[in-house]
Amino acid sequence: MGSVGFPLKSLACILIVVILEGFCDSHNETWCYDKPSCGPQTWGSLGFCNGRKQSPINIDTKDAVPWAGLGPIRFTNYEDRKLVKQLKNKGYQAEVVLHSGATISSAGLRATYYLQHFHFHWGTEDSDGSEHTINGQRYSMELHLVHTKNNMSVEEALKDPEGVAVLALFMKKSRKYAQVNPWNTLANLFKKIPEKGDTWDLNGEFSVGGLLSTADVSHYYCYKGSLTTPNCEEVVTWIIFPDPIEVSEQVIKIFSNSLYFTTVKEGRRMRNNFRPLQPLKGRKVYYYKENISVISCLLHCFY
Ligand SMILES: *[C@@H]1O[C@H](CO)[C@@H](O)[C@H](O)[C@H]1NC(C)=O
Ligand SMILES: *[C@@H]1O[C@H](CO)[C@@H](O)[C@H](O)[C@H]1NC(C)=O
Ligand SMILES: *[C@@H]1O[C@H](CO)[C@@H](O)[C@H](O)[C@H]1NC(C)=O
Repeated sequence: MGSVGFPLKSLACILIVVILEGFCDSHNETWCYDKPSCGPQTWGSLGFCNGRKQSPINIDTKDAVPWAGLGPIRFTNYEDRKLVKQLKNKGYQAEVVLHSGATISSAGLRATYYLQHFHFHWGTEDSDGSEHTINGQRYSMELHLVHTKNNMSVEEALKDPEGVAVLALFMKKSRKYAQVNPWNTLANLFKKIPEKGDTWDLNGEFSVGGLLSTADVSHYYCYKGSLTTPNCEEVVTWIIFPDPIEVSEQVIKIFSNSLYFTTVKEGRRMRNNFRPLQPLKGRKVYYYKENISVISCLLHCFY
């Protein structure tokens, strides 16, 4: 009997190992935010994440170089409700996919940049989770509007040193905006895509311009950096508007409580999906404001 028991036990052991490995495989994430085995501290070995022009950064406003030559950002078609296409839970962020049509341009950008999608970074209901900070201050959330040069595909743009321009706006809790507005509409729609891979088709429920209607886009900081998720390609012109958009507390709550990194069953809520600050490594941050002295352009036009 012993001679039969031994192989059976071995078989049981092998089965357990196989099952455990299967379990581990399905959780084999190349990168993540919430586990030591794949969190941001481990990203250095991935793609360009260990490079010299990484994002996000802290913006020290007293070190920013005023540069009138950057000019105001010109927006086209941002108000068009037909452009919102689909919500997507990508497993690390919540994305709004857009039809092509909205663009930005400015004297400082060497092409027209087409808005492809936008997404968010956040902390928890009670802790802040913007990626960039201004003089060390972190905000509740950060919105990234991702544009590609001359309507390139995102894949192509990641290979072009000037391929991507991201507009970044901070979001902050306020009691003022508790009424129905595009932000509440959008946040409530995100409840429909709790799990990785979930999508929800949009049909003109809001416009990007509507979300930005209270934003002050007359002045901004600008620097050359990277994507803030692997592979951290160093192809991004960052345009950061320092004045936060105020949203209701409910909006922040919905983001931090309704979405998951994987499945609802696994229970890892999508929270704290922001990358830690990266060193500036000698880069300059520029500042544009309407009517800033033209002399400053003569001093700083060559970067
Ligand atoms: C697990 O992760 C490693 C390292 O990122 C990767 O090479 C491998 O293909 C992954 N395995 C599975 C089954 O996804
Ligand atoms: C931008 O590219 C997409 C995808 O290739 C294409 O469907 C769309 O028509 C282009 N838009 C413009 C304005 O050229
Ligand atoms: C900038 O200058 C123009 C022309 O001098 C003036 O009309 C405008 O009001 C100024 N804007 C600001 C924000 O000071």
